[in-house]
Amino acid sequence: MSEGAAKKEEKPRKFQAIRGTRDLLPPETALWNRVEQTAHEVFATFGFGEIRVPIFEPTELFRRSVGIDTDIVSREMFTFPEDFRETLDLRRDYLAVRARELRNQLPAKDAMKSFISFTSDFLDLAGSAFSRDQIPQTAENKDSLDQIHSRILLWEPKVEQKEFGCTEQDWLLLLSDIAMLANRLEIGGLISLRPEATASVCRAYIEHNMQQLPQPVKLYYMGPMFRRERPQKGRYRQFYQIGAEVLDRVRPADTILRDVAKELRRDAVIDAEAIEMLMTFFGKCGLQGTTLYINSIGHNAPNCRRGYVEKLRAELTKIKDKLGPDSQRRIDTNPLRVLDSKLESEQPYIEKLPRIADHLCEECATHYSAVKHQLEMRGVIYRENWRLVRGLDYYMRTTFEITAPGLGSQNAVCGGGRYDGLVELLGGPRTKGIGFAIGEDRLILSLQEVDKRSSDTGVQSPLATRQSPPLYIAWMGERAYATALGTAKTLRSAGFRVELPPVEQKFGIALGRAVQLGAKYALILGDNEVTSGEWTLKMLADGTQRKLTEPQLLDFLRKL
Ligand code: HAM
Repeated sequence: MSEGAAKKEEKPRKFQAIRGTRDLLPPETALWNRVEQTAHEVFATFGFGEIRVPIFEPTELFRRSVGIDTDIVSREMFTFPEDFRETLDLRRDYLAVRARELRNQLPAKDAMKSFISFTSDFLDLAGSAFSRDQIPQTAENKDSLDQIHSRILLWEPKVEQKEFGCTEQDWLLLLSDIAMLANRLEIGGLISLRPEATASVCRAYIEHNMQQLPQPVKLYYMGPMFRRERPQKGRYRQFYQIGAEVLDRVRPADTILRDVAKELRRDAVIDAEAIEMLMTFFGKCGLQGTTLYINSIGHNAPNCRRGYVEKLRAELTKIKDKLGPDSQRRIDTNPLRVLDSKLESEQPYIEKLPRIADHLCEECATHYSAVKHQLEMRGVIYRENWRLVRGLDYYMRTTFEITAPGLGSQNAVCGGGRYDGLVELLGGPRTKGIGFAIGEDRLILSLQEVDKRSSDTGVQSPLATRQSPPLYIAWMGERAYATALGTAKTLRSAGFRVELPPVEQKFGIALGRAVQLGAKYALILGDNEVTSGEWTLKMLADGTQRKLTEPQLLDFLRKL
């Protein structure tokens, strides 16, 4: 290798953010903060409280709620084994391999001693994982651990004896027993980075007995979600959602003495209010050109969605050869998702398919009409879209999506819907649910588009205000520096942005730097100012200056 090539190789690797992830930098992060602050404020006015749930959960939670056959669960989750699982897996495998190897050896005291001691270590680790519920607390697992324990209790004292005797038969039996018992141990689940947060909120509702709180429980969250999708504009592998969920326990008394009309009205009001809150939030953010699409996908019963799905499947089978491979596959797995297809060639056929609105049961149809009525009462403008089925399994009745301009093909800025029964599916009490999640990355993108266009139209997002310009302190001399520190502290605690250079600069350089940072004023602090107790404030636009004491300066800045 030439010297040049060796040097090139020595160069440290430059790291880049992983595909589909990105850094959010200032000043854009200020917009993110304002959007989030607006969500905190608007959601609080509707009685919602913030919940923070973990970023990873058992994979099983998402499989059960979002659905095994969905794109999200079947191919987009970031899933990995927990540390303890890896350690235990390795040890279990090692135990089995050791047992197999030792089979060919004669019962030797040392080999046996080390095998028993390793088995005993494994049992300690597995036993404590079991007691912490890190491996499933099933009867089978308990039995396996107990049996390993009893083998150790039997053999440990024996191998310690001076007169150690063991037949080949005993030896083989012990090895195969331990290998079999270790293998039988079901070490448990995987964990996944959350692809969404509805499942976690339902898990938390159950875990913290929130059904005992006054109902409905109204929660919101914000934070990163993870999906291994093909990255493109508005689609990332780490993206951010702002979401809200309303959970409403069904009391046993309500089930026995059902007042269907009252129940449907309550649900419809909750749906409409969640959507109203969402649109209020978008309005406060200054998001323009949004369209709210709504639909009802009924409920999973033969006289409602299930009947419709069978009809749809039959129709799709008739036109199977006209459909692309994805839709063809979905005829078997999930015919509703065919309606989601964006494939140009399929559109004329999909438009002629039967529509779910004509197949809703009476209760679902009444609920859907009530939701539309409640939206109208709130002045929320919507469009119906019979093809809006959503890509997660837990939905029933209301589904909705909002699109925004400037986003290209990934134009859904929010999605949501009703999911009665999900809490029950996760082991909780009978509970109804409705919620939505806003794609924050897309919301920001769309706001930035509005902002870009605002210079032409004069319309500006209320969130588009820039950070206030800094006040630059040009100090000269150590005595002035000490004063400058005090002045900076006073101004900052009064809420002003101050730039204080770390080293003394020549006057011209200091003013140039102030202009570079976007400052409108420079505060000049030298020996004269310290002595007189009056600072010089220079207006950078026209070069004029005035003398002010610190209280006068504060007063002047406040009036700006
Ligand atoms: P979702 O439709 O999967 O629903 O996601 C909601 C929103 O998150 C989408 O409309 C989109 O704006 C944004 N989003 C999704 N994937 C990405 C991505 N890869 N990159 C950027 N943005 C993305 C849910 O997640 C449900 N949990 C919503 C919900 C809450 N339903 C009931 N409650």
